[in-house]
Amino acid sequence: MARDEPLLAPRLSSENSSLRNDEEEDALLTGEHTSRTHQRRGWAFWREVGLFTWALLATIAVIVLAVVFQNEASRSPPDSDHSNATQPWGPGEKPTGKRNLIFMVSDGMGPTSLTLTRSFRQFTEGLPIDDTLVLDQHIIGTSRTRSSSSLVTDSAAGATAFSCGLKSYNGAISVLPDHSPCGTVLEAAALAGYKTGLVVTTRITDATPACFASHVNLRQYEDRIAEQEIGEHPLGSVVDLIMGGGRCHFLPNSTDGSCRGDDRDLVDIAKKNGFHYVDDRKGFDGLGGGSDAKLPLLGLFAEKDIPYEIDRRTQDDVYPSLEEMTRTALKTLSQATADSDQGFFIMIEGSRIDHAGHGNDPAAQVHEVLAYDKAFAAVLEFLENDSTPGVLVSTSDHETGGLASARQLHDEYPEYKWLPGVLANASHSSEYVNQELRNFMAVEKKKHKQKKFVTKLLEDGLGITDATDEEVETLLRQDLPYSHQYVFADIISRRAQIGWSTHGHSGVDVNIYASSTKDAWSLVGNNENTDVGGFLADYLDLNVDEVTKQLRESEGWTWDSKAGVESTSIDQPFHWLGDPLGEDLRTEGLDTYHHEFKKRSVDGELDCGCGEMH
Ligand SMILES: *[C@@H]1O[C@H](CO)[C@@H](O)[C@H](O)[C@H]1NC(C)=O
Ligand SMILES: *[C@@H]1O[C@H](CO)[C@@H](O)[C@H](O)[C@H]1NC(C)=O
Ligand SMILES: *[C@@H]1O[C@H](CO)[C@@H](O)[C@H](O)[C@H]1NC(C)=O
Ligand SMILES: *[C@@H]1O[C@H](CO)[C@@H](O)[C@H](O)[C@H]1NC(C)=O
Ligand SMILES: [Zn+2]
Ligand SMILES: [Zn+2]
Repeated sequence: MARDEPLLAPRLSSENSSLRNDEEEDALLTGEHTSRTHQRRGWAFWREVGLFTWALLATIAVIVLAVVFQNEASRSPPDSDHSNATQPWGPGEKPTGKRNLIFMVSDGMGPTSLTLTRSFRQFTEGLPIDDTLVLDQHIIGTSRTRSSSSLVTDSAAGATAFSCGLKSYNGAISVLPDHSPCGTVLEAAALAGYKTGLVVTTRITDATPACFASHVNLRQYEDRIAEQEIGEHPLGSVVDLIMGGGRCHFLPNSTDGSCRGDDRDLVDIAKKNGFHYVDDRKGFDGLGGGSDAKLPLLGLFAEKDIPYEIDRRTQDDVYPSLEEMTRTALKTLSQATADSDQGFFIMIEGSRIDHAGHGNDPAAQVHEVLAYDKAFAAVLEFLENDSTPGVLVSTSDHETGGLASARQLHDEYPEYKWLPGVLANASHSSEYVNQELRNFMAVEKKKHKQKKFVTKLLEDGLGITDATDEEVETLLRQDLPYSHQYVFADIISRRAQIGWSTHGHSGVDVNIYASSTKDAWSLVGNNENTDVGGFLADYLDLNVDEVTKQLRESEGWTWDSKAGVESTSIDQPFHWLGDPLGEDLRTEGLDTYHHEFKKRSVDGELDCGCGEMH
């Protein structure tokens, strides 16, 4: 190991101390010679008083000017010399004709995820230190993420800020704190004649996609979200293209691989409503990269989540990648709108960056971010080639995991480093190896064989060759109060010296990226997440308030009678949003302190800082 050398050796100034240096600096500013003599004490005193007064007044003036300038700056975009200050659309000006809007969401990706992934890529590909991700080259601002109910948002409230442009409570799927629906940018786009799409790597019924095309009081009502997404919605069918996972919510409970609570066959209903349905790699390839795709399209490529990229890359014949889905969706939508006066709106989500954060799995995360970066680059390429003008805006709903690119492991002052090589040696996610372990443990009960298996699994799956007996024993314990997946992730995080502060979300601001500042002028700088939603509607000249009005008129609406609606509850306003939350969850204020500060540990034997299952 190379010896640590101070990078910045202190520059020693002539013969004297810092006092001398201060005096020298003063001299430079005032033009006076430094002198330690006291000859002109009287003059010096008044000079000091004068200087002090001058400095005080100057400071006040600078502060006043700064405040005034700040206010000006927040009202008009930067670089306003180059444009009309009253022109909120900046030098690019708002396009007036046909246009496309591509909105990307990197769920749970905070600033540290970028740092980690950038360094990981430089390490694995032998790139120079100034090599950056494509995302890095398109950063334009940041977004503040709190919800109406907490300083730490969940994905539902986070996506409602994007879809409706309004704050709501954690758990709300495009529903306001008063439990009434709010119109979304996708619905407004559909009503205005745009083609619309949703592409994700998690369940298409999960919070982010759900917020664009459905309304329910609680994100857990995924069966209902699925129904609304295929057109059992007061405004009718609003999504033209759906690609992702979550097939289990569309299959009747009598079928293998269903997770519906009832026996409705939504795939069959979707087909009757005109949807073209594909559910595997062969079906995806049959779309010919979009050339042979027809709308409306329902593509459900996994029962639940599409595997993490780190695991998917070895199952490429089973699942399409985010980049492939992105390219195919863009081609499909641009073809479908070729002869139309209106373009398209699409939301594309790198959904599982968030899951890797919840699992505190840094190896899975860097591959998720790389996959997202590739999808982002694919959208840029599409925009460059396409004759219809358009903009790409990308942001996160929140950060997940409280990720840190450093970790103190011992009582001693830590070394300044983290080790991308540890992540590079992992060939699978902790989710994947955990599943392998469960499968093995279910059939093999002999302790020594289990031990051998775990040791080999750590080596082959995570590239860990120095597992301690204690770590192996922990992985074999059947009474752990949390998933063994967390233990795998901790084994790798510690060795890479990567820190996590939670298995949940955090409240840090997240980055905003765009195809150009010119086209996303109003998002330059620090924004509220609702400003991002405001921009989306504004870019396409959509009136989401008008959609909200229409939805409010649907107070008594109910979906398909076959859905099993209890006749007694049909009179309840907005019954179709599902049961409203309990009174205690309708919090407007901040969450309260519950005295839950004690360190979690199983029994002192293991102290991995692991939390509860997400
Ligand atoms: C600036 O404003 C003037 C007067 O309203 C207008 O003629 C001009 O086109 C504007 N320029 C830009 C770049 O928006
Ligand atoms: C399947 O759904 C039907 C209602 O649609 C219900 O009666 C039945 O109990 C469900 N079966 C299971 C196994 O959950
Ligand atoms: C963009 O154009 C280039 C050059 O014609 C072509 O190679 C590429 O496939 C095009 N990409 C997309 C996404 O259309
Ligand atoms: C990665 O694996 C290689 C080959 O087994 C090994 O030499 C190297 O030390 C490992 N790197 C880290 C950081 O563990
Ligand atoms: Zn999220
Ligand atoms: Zn999350």
